[in-house]
Amino acid sequence: MALDSSGNQSDQHQPPPSNDDVGLKLQRIPNEEHEPDNYEDLHLDFSPVLFSSLERYLPDPLLNSTRIDKARFMRDLLARYSPDSDRIRIQRHGEYRQKILNSYQRLHGEIYSLDPSGFFVPSFLGAVRQKSEEGLRSIMVPSSPGIFTFDMLNPRLCEMLLAEVEHMEKWVYESRSTIMRPNTMNKFGVVLDDFGFESMLQKLVDDFISPISQVLFPEVCGTSLDSHHGFIVEYGKDRDVDLGFHVDDSEVTLNVCLGKQFAGGELYFRGVRCDNHVNSESSEKEVFDYPHVPGRAILHRGRHRHGARATTSGHRVNLILWCRSSTFREMKNYQKDFSSWCGECKFEKQGRQQASIKATKEILERRAAEKALVELASRSAD
Ligand SMILES: [Fe+2]
Ligand SMILES: [Zn+2]
Repeated sequence: MALDSSGNQSDQHQPPPSNDDVGLKLQRIPNEEHEPDNYEDLHLDFSPVLFSSLERYLPDPLLNSTRIDKARFMRDLLARYSPDSDRIRIQRHGEYRQKILNSYQRLHGEIYSLDPSGFFVPSFLGAVRQKSEEGLRSIMVPSSPGIFTFDMLNPRLCEMLLAEVEHMEKWVYESRSTIMRPNTMNKFGVVLDDFGFESMLQKLVDDFISPISQVLFPEVCGTSLDSHHGFIVEYGKDRDVDLGFHVDDSEVTLNVCLGKQFAGGELYFRGVRCDNHVNSESSEKEVFDYPHVPGRAILHRGRHRHGARATTSGHRVNLILWCRSSTFREMKNYQKDFSSWCGECKFEKQGRQQASIKATKEILERRAAEKALVELASRSAD
């Protein structure tokens, strides 16, 4: 089912309340009790996840109307407020995804929706379900400050994902399609969101990565990881070799090795930095190397500088999830001091504090010396 450009669609429905004649506006406070619809199957110009999140803000008269009416209202609203360039880009990307969805035949349909007991190893599932900081920390290896590793995916799921990725690459090759690669640095790999994994991955963020991040990275407001970019990277012969030193466009990054057999490909980390200090030196304490293990995840701040060494033999495939928070990004615009998480800001702040302590100490010492002199002088005058 698709909405055409005029907003008409083939479903039988009552005429919707029009935006203009009723003057409907979004509510300031979301209706948390309202269960939003799923907009995945509609051909919309914006992400279906955005529609589901926005639905809770709909005015009362619309909240219980049909899904199509709600989608049309939200689409018009979003279109009205996005700049032309954004609108065109979003529309083209929507068309691109629709093209893939129309012609790509899924190999393992079951992995497109989240099935926690099928996806995760029992230790991971048990720890998250305990819903306590202690439970979560019990499975995490605090490998280096701000970097956590833990067993996460079932071998069976890794196998199915690997087979699905191979199937996607085969489809790309056979259909002679040009696909968008995950980012500017990876020439191989696929964007899972473009192939229909978007809602499954956002659910993974909402139900698992957000609660974990809330505990491990409270400074990035872990509760509001409200969007993501999910993709696969491939290294080895005829694939990418290594990955240069960089930061991710994410608040929190989840990186899980899916396999297969390989040598090399270690990740190296060099401390968390804000925009201003991204090229500053790292301290010895910040140097950390991590060898990948299939099924095992590594979770770190996107601003934790890192790179990947060459995969010297075999074929390595990793699932990467860049989790983003619009709240954190908005707040960051008004902040100057990132000493709660940037290693260099912290270092500079400590330097300023030490200088200020030293200056205060000098003033006190001078005053004490002056006082002693005055006392001495008054005593000798007596
Ligand atoms: Fe990265
Ligand atoms: Zn900084």
